[in-house]
Amino acid sequence: MTAQTMEELVSLCKRRGFLFQSNDIYGGIKGLYDYGPMGVEFKNNLKQAWWKSMVYERDDTEGLDASILNSPVVLKHSGHEDTFTDPLVDCRACKSRWRADQLFENNKCPNCKSEDLTEPRPFNLMFKTAIGPVDDGSSFAYLRPETCQQIFTNFKNILDSTSRTVPFGIAQMGKAFRNEITPRNFIFRVREFEQMELEFFVKPGTDDEWHEYWINKRIEWWVNQGIKKENLKKIEVEKNELAHYSKRTVDINYVFPHGEEELEGVANRTDFDLGSHTKNQNDFKITSEVMKNSSSTTKLAVQDLEEKKWYIPYVIEPSAGVDRGVLALLNEAYREENVDKDNKRILLSLKPHLSPIKAAVIPLKKNNEELVNLSKEIKSNLQKLGLGRVVLENSGNIGKNYRRHDEIGTPICLTVDFETLEDESVTVRDRDTMKQERVSIENLSEYYKKYFN
Ligand code: GAP
Repeated sequence: MTAQTMEELVSLCKRRGFLFQSNDIYGGIKGLYDYGPMGVEFKNNLKQAWWKSMVYERDDTEGLDASILNSPVVLKHSGHEDTFTDPLVDCRACKSRWRADQLFENNKCPNCKSEDLTEPRPFNLMFKTAIGPVDDGSSFAYLRPETCQQIFTNFKNILDSTSRTVPFGIAQMGKAFRNEITPRNFIFRVREFEQMELEFFVKPGTDDEWHEYWINKRIEWWVNQGIKKENLKKIEVEKNELAHYSKRTVDINYVFPHGEEELEGVANRTDFDLGSHTKNQNDFKITSEVMKNSSSTTKLAVQDLEEKKWYIPYVIEPSAGVDRGVLALLNEAYREENVDKDNKRILLSLKPHLSPIKAAVIPLKKNNEELVNLSKEIKSNLQKLGLGRVVLENSGNIGKNYRRHDEIGTPICLTVDFETLEDESVTVRDRDTMKQERVSIENLSEYYKKYFN
């Protein structure tokens, strides 16, 4: 079971501290959200899982964390200054603005139904900001619209500082910014979001095979994070809808509460980007339409030792949205169950490695010094194992604690009761089955570790 509506997720996220509207106390800003105490842990766990699979578990990738402010020259050569636009339409009657492709009802304003609309005109989605103390328009930067451009501009730095040879990849996670005309559907389409992107450099001619490899690898990864395979769809992007850099893109769509849409795109970017950022492009047989007269001073190419010539690698790019991942996984984990005929519970059946809180330690009575001190000691010992956040719940209300931890997806709750003082064991309650068992304190670390592996 998943959530039935987006409202169920929005309500849970606010109630339990996953997500808040940004600038809320001043009325909020559309398309911006803040991750609260549970949200930040969950999002970090998701990013960590991605990093583990893209960097730590592979022998052919490196990581990068580059600047968010990008030079206009970079985004000129990447094609974004000229082509990163959406078609914008104004309603002359109610003054609202829309993306032309969102006028679902035959060219009528979705707000006031007027047909008095302007012709679509291109609207560049990039945010600009001034660099330095004088804001006279002469010195500015863009907030990056995708994380990957700095991977391309650092290509040579990374080659020179590591011993990598093609095929290899560079992974990066972080913020990206798009001035979306109509942000919508909670955190699905926002103006500030995070991406997890891998640029995987391959020899031209091997690109189609590597593309298939990454499409399958990425679907497998989302399934391992807890998304049912039948809720993921592989969608071939139509030729006339491909981004300016792409030879072929396959979207991995997810059935969100508002409908099926893109969770991740896997593109074959050919030699477009490295070619665009390379000096003396005429030295290479670049297959894509690249910007001419690059002002870059660098040759972003590699040597083919067998054929003794230089070539520009092709790039396969799996690019996932962190926020869309958060939304998909919350939706996938959401359950409502009848505990008995009078009581219902909501739970997030998250995979333990993604749960914001790994375990809650609950002394049965809040002011009992012996129980509370022992609980603190158990909490501290589990925390030291480094598997994620463990909390002490010292409110003395076991029922309420169980409900709260079900709703935030904590896999286990450990209760320290009066029996514990005698038999040195605690009651462990499983989130999904609600089954309880006694586990001796001596064995708790091993039990806990096994639970998360
Ligand atoms: N570097 C390639 C690239 O940026 P994209 O399809 O435009 O490709 C990749 O974006 C992913 O980033 C998308 O699949 C989506 O998950 C996420 N994304 C894009 N725009 C977004 C937005 N406005 N809000 C939230 N996530 C977004």
